[in-house]
Amino acid sequence: MPEHAPCRLGVLVSGSGTNLQAIIDRIESGEINAEIACVISNKADAYALTRAAQHGIPAIVHENSRYPERRSYDAATVELLRSHKVDLVILAGFMRIVTDVMVNAFPHAIMNIHPALLPSFPGLHAQQQALDYGVRFSGCTVHFVDCGTDTGPIILQTVVSVEQNDTEETLSARIQSAEHHTFAAAIKLFTEGKIQVHGRKVLILN
Ligand code: GAR
Repeated sequence: MPEHAPCRLGVLVSGSGTNLQAIIDRIESGEINAEIACVISNKADAYALTRAAQHGIPAIVHENSRYPERRSYDAATVELLRSHKVDLVILAGFMRIVTDVMVNAFPHAIMNIHPALLPSFPGLHAQQQALDYGVRFSGCTVHFVDCGTDTGPIILQTVVSVEQNDTEETLSARIQSAEHHTFAAAIKLFTEGKIQVHGRKVLILN
């Protein structure tokens, strides 16, 4: 038996799953001591499901359209996560706002990646918001999820430059490659027990 059982991750997705892939790769290389217990998608056609299946990870379609409202959907998600004995929930391109039902079920144990330097440009189309505003730098933020939209305590951020000729696509691509190592670094810190939350502030232990 290993000294510490690997942290069990539940990854929620809606789309392509490049962040999921980055996490899978780092677990398989031994960089992160974790196991992906399940991947749950609210979209049946999310390519992230294929990525999970290719690596022998349970891939679950859990469509929100089958639930009357957000809280009942979240209650069913919590049940799924609990049935897979998940320790840490990862929102990896999960394009839904989660409610208090999820947040209270996993206190300081839900991480989201957002494609901007929060608190700037929360919500949808963060990259286009940054271009429209004319900022010189944007980036990505990994934060714990609270009941607001992209408002929870910030764990890690990576800065990415904005070029004059950037489009939403080119800026998104540059931010996305920063996301992959930033998300992995935050998950690694969590699995090593090196994160403490004090109100809004996240302390990273050596
Ligand atoms: C990522 O860029 C992530 O920051 C964004 O969705 C993309 C998912 O890509 N998330 C949000 O905008 C959440 N508000 P992926 O499916 O290839 O990992």
